[in-house]
Amino acid sequence: MSVQSKIKRITVPEIRARKGAEPIVSLTAYHAHTARYIDPYVDFLLVGDSLGMVMYGMETTLGVTLDMMIAHGAAVVRGTERALVVVDMPFGSYEESPEIAFRNACRVIKETGCTAVKLEGGTRIAETIRYLSLRGIPVMAHIGLTPQNIQVMGGFKTQGREESEWAAIEADAAAVAEAGAFAVVLEGMAEPLAARITGQIDIPTIGIGASPHCDGQILVLEDMLGLSPKPAKFVREFATLGAQIAGAAEAYARAVRDRSFPGVENTYGMKKVK
Ligand code: KIV
Repeated sequence: MSVQSKIKRITVPEIRARKGAEPIVSLTAYHAHTARYIDPYVDFLLVGDSLGMVMYGMETTLGVTLDMMIAHGAAVVRGTERALVVVDMPFGSYEESPEIAFRNACRVIKETGCTAVKLEGGTRIAETIRYLSLRGIPVMAHIGLTPQNIQVMGGFKTQGREESEWAAIEADAAAVAEAGAFAVVLEGMAEPLAARITGQIDIPTIGIGASPHCDGQILVLEDMLGLSPKPAKFVREFATLGAQIAGAAEAYARAVRDRSFPGVENTYGMKKVK
């Protein structure tokens, strides 16, 4: 067998091996150009179904389709060369059966060029994680606050606030690790529980609104850039791009109105009109 090209991206075993070691850095990405800027600084990029809310202004992630995930996944893969790219399986594309999940995950892998997929759910989805993993599809799991389950949960609520809830969430973590997930996102989870789970399972935990003691962290890129109108309480903004975009638009509008818009001389190879 000839080897076509050297694998340059961070691999699934490399992420897996970071359990208890150097923290894993991750952000979401939905389009090629922004992904290119952040690629050198992250270990993996998640094309999250949060794109439904962030890019399309939806209220929840439930309306996101497989075709949307594939289009954005392919864009992020095209824009990057280093980070491992994980694409979310959207609501309705994997819950029905492991076979349907496999078929849809194959489409995601083949049509985007990404390395892995992410599925929401713990014990209830463990058999599907096993089915995919055994057939060559690396799976990242996602437990705690699972936005695709929002109608059942009755809102975006932190999970595990009561100690009586912990056993079920710990069982979810153990089930996805045992089924072969290479990492698990812990979203919206009480801090002591997320720290406890990190110590209990042998795959990396990736926290978001969980615990700084997870094996890695993920944030929605637009949230940390200051582009989200209503970021969650736990979000730390590392830039204020929303204000900068508004400022740039205002300066542009002023330049157009007072006719100080940059000259067109030689633009597109055009000669100056005398
Ligand atoms: O869809 C998404 O962006 C996610 C992250 C919040 C983990 O699942």
